[in-house]
Amino acid sequence: MPDQGIADAPIEAVDLRRTYRAHTGWLHRRYTDIEAVRGVSFSVAPGELFGLLGPNGAGKTTTIKMLNTLLLPTSGSARVLGYDVRSEPMAVRRRIGYVFGGDKGLYDRLSAEDNLRYFAELYCVEPRDQRARIGELLELVGLAGREKERVEGYSRGMRQRLHIARGLLHRPPVLFLDEPSIGLDPVAARELRRMVADLKYQGVTIVLTTHYMAEADELCDRIAVIDRGVIQALGTPRELKDRVDTGAVLEVEVVGASPRHLSALSVLPGARDVRAADRDDRKTITIHAVKGADLYAAVMSELDGLSVTRFTSREPTLEDAYLGILTDASEQGQSVAV
Ligand SMILES: Nc1ncnc2c1ncn2[C@@H]1O[C@H](COP(=O)(O)OP(=O)(O)O)[C@@H](O)[C@H]1O
Ligand SMILES: [Mg+2]
Repeated sequence: MPDQGIADAPIEAVDLRRTYRAHTGWLHRRYTDIEAVRGVSFSVAPGELFGLLGPNGAGKTTTIKMLNTLLLPTSGSARVLGYDVRSEPMAVRRRIGYVFGGDKGLYDRLSAEDNLRYFAELYCVEPRDQRARIGELLELVGLAGREKERVEGYSRGMRQRLHIARGLLHRPPVLFLDEPSIGLDPVAARELRRMVADLKYQGVTIVLTTHYMAEADELCDRIAVIDRGVIQALGTPRELKDRVDTGAVLEVEVVGASPRHLSALSVLPGARDVRAADRDDRKTITIHAVKGADLYAAVMSELDGLSVTRFTSREPTLEDAYLGILTDASEQGQSVAV
């Protein structure tokens, strides 16, 4: 879905494509072309936190790597802070930070402080600014006091925070965070979200990929849902939730419901999807209503005579919307613009 250009957008991608050539066969070398990204266009506004959501293999990392100049686009173009990623990669690199989840990219045998010193050198941070900048970042990511310890003894969350400090050494106005919360425990993940929100507050323009829908909902100003190399939907979390054809989600906890009750519920007009889960002596029945349907009275009447211990109704979440968008996309299948 093409995006209207934003004046002075720090990030602007126009019809980006990337094909990987994979070698197969041993005796007879063969090639297959994998179209990882098939025409992606979007712009990110100054200070915006832009999310890229999509299943594994959707093309998120490939898109980010074209923007941060680690990969050349096969075709299409992109500008970061006005610099062309193809013809001015050094100007782009000086102004961006790149953080990815996982274990690579740090030196285990070195302390956090030495890691940062090494990368400060690499990123051409002025020697006289290095000490203050490193101190400031250790403070920001909550590692002050632990900076002399070797990274090999760090927890996953501490490593991830050190990664972020590394990505921020040269004060980049644009930051790419590729699955930064992968493998973090809930407390570490929440700290990370707070930090990302802080950076946004300071005016950093951020592109974030994540598999955690609640995280995307909480943090992102806008989200692009990408699948099989194509943007399938783009909008604010609110817009994405409104876009999908899903209404309220009802949860009914009931004692003594039989399969007969379930089939009666599933044919109620306005009920799209009915599922039941057993827990102890009671069932929790989840009913996805179609948009605008009010099923309370009809459900209660079907369950008449049973003991309903809980009845809740919630708005569709970003996860419901995301799953809806991916289902629509796969139903349209090959008709997706190539
Ligand atoms: N270096 C590579 N060589 C060949 N294929 C690749 C390479 N990197 C990624 N791919 C393929 O490109 C597609 C998109 O991958 P990627 O951008 O990493 O997706 P995501 O980050 O959304 O999980 C996948 O099908 C993946 O297998
Ligand atoms: Mg990826």
